Amino acid sequence: MSAHSPIYRENKEYTLCCLPVEPMPENEQFLQKAFRYTWQIPQLNKNKSYLSGHYTARKALDLVLPSNEPSIALLQNPDGKPLLNLPKKVISLSHGPQLAGAVIAGKPIGLDIEAPREQLLRIQDKFLHPSEVGFAKGNLDTLTHIWTAKEAIYKLISQKGLSFKENIYLEEIHTDTGLAIVNHLEKKYIIHLDYYYQNDQVICVAKISN
Ligand SMILES: CC(C)(COP(=O)(O)OP(=O)(O)OC[C@H]1O[C@@H](n2cnc3c(N)ncnc32)[C@H](O)[C@@H]1OP(=O)(O)O)[C@@H](O)C(=O)NCCC(=O)NCCS
Repeated sequence: MSAHSPIYRENKEYTLCCLPVEPMPENEQFLQKAFRYTWQIPQLNKNKSYLSGHYTARKALDLVLPSNEPSIALLQNPDGKPLLNLPKKVISLSHGPQLAGAVIAGKPIGLDIEAPREQLLRIQDKFLHPSEVGFAKGNLDTLTHIWTAKEAIYKLISQKGLSFKENIYLEEIHTDTGLAIVNHLEKKYIIHLDYYYQNDQVICVAKISN
């Protein structure tokens, strides 16, 4: 049994649900009716760990969708960004080996779930903005918070060429919140971050404020 518990958070900006990852059932008939929305069932010969996360994130999505919409479809754009056929709803999904989640909002939103891993120390020079080096370099906990935030922000902005190192700068990181500035293609975005935790997993929701 997984040591992780479900997380459900609802506030005026978004609804978030994270669930412990569970194996994806291999019964196509079951999968076709598994959710309150239609979705593209993935090929069942993919890596099982990927399929489990992919499926669990969609299960979390089912729990955050509005209950009064009769025919919701989960789609994706050519870059892989998940979309709903609901005009005023934006979603983001994330899945790791242990937890998977979904967030829904009325404005651009991004979700990422990560656990600290030594690899972040090895690649830190590739993703730290020059202004982050002084407070983050060599600190795995801070690196995990920055990496999770930048992945969530990447999903929110979802523009090719957005560089973690050059375009995204975390100005403030507190335990539960953070503030990031993104400069890309002559636009400046101010992004607020919310952090949640489940055992060693760090969950970041990035939301836009302009
Ligand atoms: C696409 C990307 C954001 C996915 O993040 P990840 O941490 O690898 O994986 P997660 O499980 O958290 O997220 C996967 C989900 O992101 C969503 N996603 C994929 N592409 C996306 C995009 N362009 N925009 C928004 N969301 C996207 C999908 O829903 C996907 O789940 P699915 O395949 O089950 O539908 C990531 O692979 C990526 O490309 N990051 C940017 C690359 C980069 O610049 N890296 C830094 C180098 S130093």
